[in-house]
Amino acid sequence: MEKWARANYTPCLPLGDNRSLITGSEAHIQLARKAAAEGIVLLKNKNNLLPFAKGTKVAIFGCGQIDYVKGGGGSGVVHALYTRNIYQGLKLKADHVEVFDALSLYYQNYVEEQYKNGAKIGLFEEPEVPNTLLLQAKDFANTAIIVIRRYSSEASDRKNDGTDDYFYLSDAEKAMLEAVTDSFENVVVLLNVGAMIDTTWFAYNDAVSSAVMLWQGGMEGGLAAADVLVGEVTPSGKLVDTCAKTFDDYPSSEGFHESADYVKYTEDIFVGYRYFETVPGKKECVVYPFGYGLSYTTFALSKVAACQNADRIIVSVTVTNTGRISGKEVVQVYFSAPSGKLDKPARELCGFAKTKELVPGESEELYISFAINDMASLDDCGMISKSAYVLEKGEYHIYVGTDIRSAKEIDYTYVLEVDTIIEQLHPYMTPERLDKRMKADGTYEILECKPVERAVFDWGYKCADKPERMYRLVDVAEGKADLDTFIAQLTDEELIHLLGGQPNHGVAGTSGMGSLEKYGIPPVMTTDGPAGVRVNPRKGVYATAFPVATALACSWNLELLEEIGRAGALETKENNMQIWLTPALNIHRSPLCGRNFEYYSEDPFLSGKMAAAMVNGIQSQNIVAVPKHFACNNKETNRKNSDSIVSERALREIYLKGFEICVKEAKPKMIMTAYNLINGVRASENAEMLDGILRSEWGYKGMVTTDWLTLGEHWKEAKAGNDIKMPRGNNDNLREALEEGTLSREELCVCAKRILEMILWLE
Ligand code: BGC
Repeated sequence: MEKWARANYTPCLPLGDNRSLITGSEAHIQLARKAAAEGIVLLKNKNNLLPFAKGTKVAIFGCGQIDYVKGGGGSGVVHALYTRNIYQGLKLKADHVEVFDALSLYYQNYVEEQYKNGAKIGLFEEPEVPNTLLLQAKDFANTAIIVIRRYSSEASDRKNDGTDDYFYLSDAEKAMLEAVTDSFENVVVLLNVGAMIDTTWFAYNDAVSSAVMLWQGGMEGGLAAADVLVGEVTPSGKLVDTCAKTFDDYPSSEGFHESADYVKYTEDIFVGYRYFETVPGKKECVVYPFGYGLSYTTFALSKVAACQNADRIIVSVTVTNTGRISGKEVVQVYFSAPSGKLDKPARELCGFAKTKELVPGESEELYISFAINDMASLDDCGMISKSAYVLEKGEYHIYVGTDIRSAKEIDYTYVLEVDTIIEQLHPYMTPERLDKRMKADGTYEILECKPVERAVFDWGYKCADKPERMYRLVDVAEGKADLDTFIAQLTDEELIHLLGGQPNHGVAGTSGMGSLEKYGIPPVMTTDGPAGVRVNPRKGVYATAFPVATALACSWNLELLEEIGRAGALETKENNMQIWLTPALNIHRSPLCGRNFEYYSEDPFLSGKMAAAMVNGIQSQNIVAVPKHFACNNKETNRKNSDSIVSERALREIYLKGFEICVKEAKPKMIMTAYNLINGVRASENAEMLDGILRSEWGYKGMVTTDWLTLGEHWKEAKAGNDIKMPRGNNDNLREALEEGTLSREELCVCAKRILEMILWLE
């Protein structure tokens, strides 16, 4: 096939076996189901009620059994041919459980009625449970299932203000819980949510036997739930966020709704477990700790040892299935750095591994390694060296276990005699004011900030001589011309064209890039993610809806993420698109952020690893992956104009860290900047972030795109190394800047070159 044939001609070339479609294929749907089951976290299981014994009779309460939320809203919606809900999932297990249909049909009618009245999925209240049905249900079954569901979407955050109950149960949900727990001996709670919610009402409630975190599991989420409930799959998911007792326990809550114009990241590096496990008295606020998750079987860890090999520490551990059911276990490795001049979190995740499915009695030896330098902290006050990663002298302890709380210190300590500067960085993106930042003891300090001169970068691009003959891009691909020579023949107007998004081709709906016919530059198309390939169903394409990112992260299974990356990339390719706007890896800073479901975790290490696995899977198919939203897009309210005010240390250690891991490990071809500002500068116009940190310090070689319809000025974005403005450029703005001399032709060439390099990489 000719280079760029799919981009140029949008041929009908299915990628499945025997030329069948791979998009929404049975194989991909089964992968989605497997992933959904593997991300499920068993939180409570009193008397081993789960898995249900064969012949169990159940009555299901709650709209979520019908109105199952497969994923969140906005650009993250994936249009699949169907969504299997929990009722349907359990009905497929008729040989194992018997469902009280009359109750489920009551909910079905209610839900359909709500849809008819214009209600949206996941966004309407629970009806009162009719007493007669409750009595009949009680007659029929002695086990009740309660489904609690939550929905959120980009461009807005959820609230807890009585008009919108996100974190807490609504009054109607409380009434349902009470009615059900009063009537049934066994109660199982299923949480179909996209972010952390209150867990106290079942964790500390003896009337609830079992609780299962289903997340939003994609198109087969209902069947995956049933797979786990009947024991066809042993749950092996582990939490990627801390469950706190109240919303106010999360340190970000205090200022979350303070202003639409800014967010002060006052908890600094003490996000998630770094706060709960470190700050005195906060451990008691935790219901379920980070990394927690039960199984139907039991595991023992033995032969835990560690050694140093060059600049890495290698932990080895043997995991044995000591129970009577097959299952997988996740081993997590944490470290604690010595508190010296810089405050340190009590624990930080630095490695993990998951076993294969172990049959009872079977063992597996796992090796988990991490770089000693990964234990360094960013010194933003110049205690040892300003803006450097430093390892302070002292003892570094290592903890191994199956969640952060139960991880035990191992018999190996890394000792450093002198403070060591690991990497001297630059004081980029520093805040101009930070009146409050948290210390390890929970008190706050004022961060003195000097006014900073923002750095300016010049790549020293020299325009090549204009060639004597005209070259097409394929000539560059074939080695007949170099890229600089190719670029030299483009007029300023043609360069400006390349720096903006281009019209949709084929089934694409989020615009494309390239598209300069005269020079044979193909139109390459983008499509959304991250939970699957987003194509408007009116175009006739139904893709596979995978579980949301948080659910995938709970699998702690990097191979699985890589597999999903590959599958999504194939669906992108089959539909003649080239760029999948995936993965998204902002940090779960507050349970109320409308986009949490699209993101992985409160922990940057885990987020970075998950994103890297996805990128590796996607790019193995010659499809461009686009980690987003770089960076600090942790709130959706006024997202295009909200300023994230954050210390240099929290930026480096928490909010940029996942991107750094992903960039260094997986080399994505593209990165999407965020809408928001960071310390007064728009992410899309942030030369220090893009040319300074991303390119100069991390060695990133790919291109950068804006998020869609940013409020940034195009010439400033281009000058800052944000190569393309999507979904279309502001050509007048670039022309004027060229005329005024605030932007040079060389700067246009630098951006155009990166865009063309991305296109040249495509097949
Ligand atoms: C979202 C991005 C998305 C883009 C294109 C924006 O609203 O923030 O994540 O990729 O739209 O749909």
